Amino acid sequence: MTPQFGVALRGTGSALPTRVVPNQEFTDVLGLDTSDEWIRTRTGIRERRFAGPGDTSATLGTAAARAALASAGLTAADLDLIVCATVTPDLMCPATAALIQAGLGTRPIPAFDLSAACSGFLYALSVGAQFIYTGAARHALLVGADVLSRTLDFTDRNSCILFGDGAGAVVLSAAPPADNSIRALRLYCDGSRQELIQVPSKVTPTPPPGTSLPRLDHIRISGREVFRFAVTRMVELIERAEHDVCELGLPGVDVLIPHQVNQRIIDAALESTGFPRDKVMVNLDRYGNTSAASVPIALDEALRTGRCKRGDTVLLVAFGGGLTWSSALVTL
Ligand SMILES: CC(C)(COP(=O)(O)OP(=O)(O)OC[C@H]1O[C@@H](n2cnc3c(N)ncnc32)[C@H](O)[C@@H]1OP(=O)(O)O)[C@@H](O)C(=O)NCCC(=O)NCCS
Repeated sequence: MTPQFGVALRGTGSALPTRVVPNQEFTDVLGLDTSDEWIRTRTGIRERRFAGPGDTSATLGTAAARAALASAGLTAADLDLIVCATVTPDLMCPATAALIQAGLGTRPIPAFDLSAACSGFLYALSVGAQFIYTGAARHALLVGADVLSRTLDFTDRNSCILFGDGAGAVVLSAAPPADNSIRALRLYCDGSRQELIQVPSKVTPTPPPGTSLPRLDHIRISGREVFRFAVTRMVELIERAEHDVCELGLPGVDVLIPHQVNQRIIDAALESTGFPRDKVMVNLDRYGNTSAASVPIALDEALRTGRCKRGDTVLLVAFGGGLTWSSALVTL
């Protein structure tokens, strides 16, 4: 079916908690057996932001949404859809998107969450684009928001140093089909590897007595396995996107915006693909891994700082729990 409409990426926004947590805090305050040097050299992270008492996925998501609406030159009244990607919803019910909808004061419009961990924002982007392609929405707000600090085990040095909190948002608007800015979208999930990254909730079942399964109290990752998975998938997604670019006769990818997970994962993928280092947007040194918020925060920052500009073709790449992996090739 030929879409009736094209999709334009009309505005971006982001919101971060004010509390800055430098690496030193893990040793000096939490007494963890780690060091600033280990964290910097093994991950690239120098500091991250942690939610303050009043910050939640919904409050940060609402602030990011307001910024995205302002950058799009729209108001909440213009919106036809809100999708929020999060694995740390304020409540199991109602959805964080409903809280954002109330915070913005939109008309009664569809508003729902989706859960695809660090790929969540690209899954939301895909859902928003489908609503616009079919004419079901003219303006769609897509939010990635997470406060993983609330799930961390601060005695586990393998995981607690990696994550930060924040939210990013994008407004997509209908455009003439010839001006469609989304060149390619790829979404994948392999649930057979679900145990490699897990975030519990209040309803997570306790393992039956006698099984070897550990009780899931906090986020749990198998760092080494996830590292290998992330490099392999990032290489694959970059190679496929380069194929997409050639097929469309586009000038190529101007900026790569990867999920901000670990500098060594990004470096390994760049080395394997030969993708130029100077075309990559990185801010994980300041924010760590903000899960579903990572890609939209980096996209917003890239646009605000002139790292990329309108007319550029950007490749967004993400991977995470599920396991999920995803990419979007977008002309801004
Ligand atoms: C977690 C991660 C930083 C670990 O880096 P790594 O180079 O793979 O390190 P390893 O797991 O091989 O561990 C090497 C050693 O460092 C130790 N180590 C782990 N975390 C440490 C820390 N914060 N400080 C000091 N030492 C640490 C390990 O215990 C291990 O010690 P051992 O050899 O005595 O067992 C890295 O694997 C990673 O970023 N993985 C992906 C993270 C992820 O899952 N993100 C979420 C999904 S997107």
